[in-house]
Amino acid sequence: MSKIDGNGVPDLVIVLDFGAQYNQLIARRVRECHVYCEILPSETPTAEIIARRPKGIVFSGGPSSVYEDGAPLCDLALFEAGIPILGICYGMQLMGKMLGGEVKGSTTREYGKTEITVQDQGDLFQGLNPRLIAWMSHGDRVEQAPPGFTVTARTSHAMAAMSDRKRKLFGVQFHPEVVHTPWGIEVFRNFLYQQCGCNETWTTESVVTASVRAIQEQVGDGRVVCALSGGVDSAVTAALVHRAVGEQLTCVFMDHGFLRKNEAEQVVQTFGENFQVHLVHAQVQERFLRRLSGVTDPEEKRRIIGDEYAAVLEEEAGKIEDAEFLAQGTLYPDVIESGTKQAARIKTHHNVGGLPDTLKLKLVEPARYLFKDEVRAVGEELGLPDEIVWRHPFPGPGLAIRILGEVTEERLSTLRETDAIIIEEIRAAGLYRRLFQVFGVLAPVKSVGVMGDQRTYASTAILRAVTSDDAMTADWAHLPYEVLGRISTRIINEVPGVNRVAYDISSKPPATIEWE
Ligand code: XMP
Repeated sequence: MSKIDGNGVPDLVIVLDFGAQYNQLIARRVRECHVYCEILPSETPTAEIIARRPKGIVFSGGPSSVYEDGAPLCDLALFEAGIPILGICYGMQLMGKMLGGEVKGSTTREYGKTEITVQDQGDLFQGLNPRLIAWMSHGDRVEQAPPGFTVTARTSHAMAAMSDRKRKLFGVQFHPEVVHTPWGIEVFRNFLYQQCGCNETWTTESVVTASVRAIQEQVGDGRVVCALSGGVDSAVTAALVHRAVGEQLTCVFMDHGFLRKNEAEQVVQTFGENFQVHLVHAQVQERFLRRLSGVTDPEEKRRIIGDEYAAVLEEEAGKIEDAEFLAQGTLYPDVIESGTKQAARIKTHHNVGGLPDTLKLKLVEPARYLFKDEVRAVGEELGLPDEIVWRHPFPGPGLAIRILGEVTEERLSTLRETDAIIIEEIRAAGLYRRLFQVFGVLAPVKSVGVMGDQRTYASTAILRAVTSDDAMTADWAHLPYEVLGRISTRIINEVPGVNRVAYDISSKPPATIEWE
């Protein structure tokens, strides 16, 4: 906090998005250096960028070729604004082309881990080895650096980095933001601290202080409603709003009956008892179950649950006198996904319900500029329990879309017990935080088994465990056989109605993480 300037505004770095697959990673790396950073589309007017007074700008990579018609460009004026710029891949080529260098398509595409030789350690490569392995992914390359630039690193085929220290313009052909360039963070540090003069002003503490202040300013003495789901995003949102405006917050926790074992109790205990938040615990299990009776189609289930969710939220919020605001756990990746061109192509939106229009509430979104790991850090800072802060993502429609076929009370109970055993064993094996998600699915098939001397004809439970960074792609987790064995034995012994356990070994794509 002490390093934030007099107005309490953290230093800002802007990432201009030229369509890169890795633009979120760039922002994350900058924030890992404790510098606040936002991603803006490359079409953002230069005046608007300059008016934000960024300490530095990063041009992202992108799929285009700078010499193609319609390739995204930037204004020449941006190079003359006295703001340090780091161009990555396409960003470097753009800088090369616009400032009078030469950019060429290449017959030798460089892809993957590539050795680079540093020729000048005076700026971005300060403190690094002269020979490094960097991650490359490009066809075009800067053949001739623009006037004023020196080449600071090379591969055997191409220029790997260039800089104009006087104007503080830098280009790297490799991707310092990906994990395959493990020393890449040093490049960001050198750029941010030495060239841009940034201070480490983006800390969990400063995020909490700034969010609390922003909520107080927005809300004044108005009343806020927050829908709690049990997940980390809404929990952190509620905790921030509570810290900011205390008594003015009422949380609505909807128990639609599709939650995991003990989840409802934990939310009630954390928010109702520990934090002493006004909490409406809407027990609407029967209502949801009734509407799902006889429904087996996955999309139909999702639609009904979404509808009902919105209806209940509207009813409950309607009971809160003078409610003026609705706090929502929107995160930065959701904002980026709906705001930039690139992300629109790969967008997957899942949120159920959302804000019913008739509510006419104004949105409060304190996590709107945070990545998931930052949300978790804020949750810890605010004293939320580990179980909530580190809980795996859970779909809004909950267990209902993990029960293939009809959702009944009995099948819900079977899956809830199955899921609880899975989580318990995975935690006991110390694997929970290493997995992106792990859960049970109830298959719509029964099979023959034998227990003691008895023939059984009972349900099949499926174990799903995946690793992933962002849920866009996922791998099935290579769980140790012993852990698989323990989970299977316990489920079959302890959960009535299950006599067989299968392990899902599909990756996403082509499968999805959830089964419906
Ligand atoms: P899929 O199954 O599409 O899931 O691979 C990707 C990620 O999204 C989660 N998911 C949801 N999250 N509401 C949510 O908030 C939903 O309706 C929903 N459906 C899927 C899923 O758990 C995984 O993390």
